[in-house]
Amino acid sequence: MANGSAARRKMFTVLLFVLASAAGTMVIDSCVHQPYVLPADQQTGDPTICFEQDILPIFQSNCAKSGCHNAASHEDGYTLDSYTNIVKKGIVPGNPAASKIWESVTTADGDDFMPRNAPALNATQLDLIKRWIIGGAIDTGGCSSVSCDTTAFTYSGTIAPLMQSQCTGCHNSPSASGGSLTDYNSVKTAAVSGKLVAVITHQTGYSAMPQGGAKLLDCQITQIKKWIAAGTPNN
Ligand code: HEC
Repeated sequence: MANGSAARRKMFTVLLFVLASAAGTMVIDSCVHQPYVLPADQQTGDPTICFEQDILPIFQSNCAKSGCHNAASHEDGYTLDSYTNIVKKGIVPGNPAASKIWESVTTADGDDFMPRNAPALNATQLDLIKRWIIGGAIDTGGCSSVSCDTTAFTYSGTIAPLMQSQCTGCHNSPSASGGSLTDYNSVKTAAVSGKLVAVITHQTGYSAMPQGGAKLLDCQITQIKKWIAAGTPNN
């Protein structure tokens, strides 16, 4: 019988060990789990949204400005200049209503409303951000499907929307540093002066635009050049 109880003790010890290591694994798992990434099976990711092209420029040009939420200023602890920094605080993947950042761009409370002292985000930008959060606020997918067609370069269909997504967060009025890019005449002026192409192609002697952001896609630069070559039509 002594043998039998020794065997039982041994089994009991093994069982305890198994349970303890299972619990340990769970604890370790919960520590390494990155809080801002939804479990894979819950990521619905909207395949039409590319973070780098659709979402990041909105944050870079409307929020990550000097005195606001760039690396140097980080007002309220928000630095909104890169994927890692944006999802760090104020974004609850899958849940716009619980996301402070979403609340700040949609609230009716004038004190909390963002961007502060600047025009509100437009309906297209809000829709993109909302769908991005609902889809899990992820940084993958969609980019291969970014549609950019070098044969499309009308002012209303291509140039104005491009300015709006990449430039007008900063260039939102004639008094803005670098001037306005919100309307046909101001974009035309920048184009005719040569500055528009100089800044987006990062020509020496000019500030690289979009400031602090990624260079425009080659295809987008081509669209702008073709529009200028066609005589900057207001079409
Ligand atoms: C994050 C803010 C920001 C964004 C986004 C931005 N700009 Fe600027 N831009 C500035 C500031 C600030 C200046 C003035 C200081 C300077 O020239 O560096 C400026 C200057 C300019 C100038 C004048 C350059 C000169 O030498 O006179 C042009 C043209 C310009 N930007 C075009 C653009 C275009 C086109 C885009 C979008 C593709 C864009 N910017 C995006 C902040 C921005």
